[in-house]
Amino acid sequence: MSDKSKIQPFSAPKGVPDYVPPQSNEFAAVRNTFLHQAQLSGFEHIELPIFEETGLFARGVGESTDVVSKEMYTFEDRGGRSVTLRPEGTAGVMRAVIEHNLDRGQLPVKLAYAGPFFRYERPQAGRYRQLQQVGVEAIGVDDPALDAEIIALADRCFRSIGLTGFRLELTSLGDNTCRPQYREALQKFLFDLPLDEETRRRAEINPLRVLDDKRPEVQEMTADAPLMLDYLSDSAAEHFEAVKGYLDAMQIPYVVNPRMVRGLDYYTKTCFEFVHDGLGAQSGIGGGGRYDGLMEQLGGQPLSGIGFGLGVDRALLAAEVEKAQVGDGRRVDVYGVPLGDAARDQMVTIINDLRRAGIRADMAYGGRGLKGAMKGADRAGARFALVLGESELAAGEVQVKDLAAHEQHTVGLTGLVDALLQELKA
Ligand code: HAM
Repeated sequence: MSDKSKIQPFSAPKGVPDYVPPQSNEFAAVRNTFLHQAQLSGFEHIELPIFEETGLFARGVGESTDVVSKEMYTFEDRGGRSVTLRPEGTAGVMRAVIEHNLDRGQLPVKLAYAGPFFRYERPQAGRYRQLQQVGVEAIGVDDPALDAEIIALADRCFRSIGLTGFRLELTSLGDNTCRPQYREALQKFLFDLPLDEETRRRAEINPLRVLDDKRPEVQEMTADAPLMLDYLSDSAAEHFEAVKGYLDAMQIPYVVNPRMVRGLDYYTKTCFEFVHDGLGAQSGIGGGGRYDGLMEQLGGQPLSGIGFGLGVDRALLAAEVEKAQVGDGRRVDVYGVPLGDAARDQMVTIINDLRRAGIRADMAYGGRGLKGAMKGADRAGARFALVLGESELAAGEVQVKDLAAHEQHTVGLTGLVDALLQELKA
């Protein structure tokens, strides 16, 4: 005889969150609210592969980034190709835009996506190896009004799930006319510092990354480093001023953070991050920016773009910290409580009719008694329980119990759908 108690159950992989009810309902509500907001701004949905050719990320995201150099899930498939689980969404969107010639039509191309991304990071609260984002990309127009629209959209996404305890940080990373001078000035500054070998190498490849070093001694040494904002070309400075002007006009608060370094290499000009104060070390709930050279670097036209990725996991954590209720917390609005076999048979049809009318409905199965079935109604968060016993069945009626008001009344079965539609609207 096999001893089942010896079989060890499996766990989810390290650093990968499961979302199970009731939290999973809130997770879905966060993601759907973000996607809905993107739709309101005219973004169309794009659904892309979870894995891509490894070279796409190496070239698109940048070899000097932690994401590419340390965190990718890269493996050889059975055909000997190197593939990588996508660590972020922008490179894949660019690849698809180029491949399907989406940039040959009306510009900007506005695309929204949602799904899992994979980074082999050290897991901790709010930092996962499978993370979920909702992202948007607007490609093909270099207009500060579009930058402001994208930032305003991210701001609205967070506010529409009830968040208020976050701030928007903003900077400009300049363009290809002023970046080289700044890079040179920053390198000159960094090479004079007593940096360790690895950091010095980083300063050679991408000096901006050194400003992002979290070690206190490096932060101290780089406190007086030259800032990109002091080196902006006239046109980059004008662009940045215009973006800030639009944000002011839309009354979207921001702080300029001239030392912001994004974790991906493709950014130019406007860059932003949304930071939540209630989340500890992993406080970035979303970020993005403009990427002028990315499309060309991936073999496409020299078109610029701008976008963001919002962290759904972290936005959900932030909502929990702020005690913001995401979604209505109900599994259904109406719950059927049939008492006896004949009532059960009738209830199956009633509940189906309600669902056809667009009402969220469920019922007690398995011949449960009144008490057990009413508990089911409560657990489902239903507003109304429909109690159908023998006498109601005989009279062609049902008892509608309002579970919050603790009231009940009788409604004829023929007018039930309309009556409930009315009551649910109230
Ligand atoms: P990112 O800043 O790397 O940007 O990620 C965006 C958001 O994803 C972060 O602000 C954070 O909320 C969430 N996130 C990142 N890593 C983790 C993690 N390990 N665990 C939990 N959440 C995480 C991008 O990915 C860019 N593709 C955004 C973009 C689109 N820029 C232009 N277009």
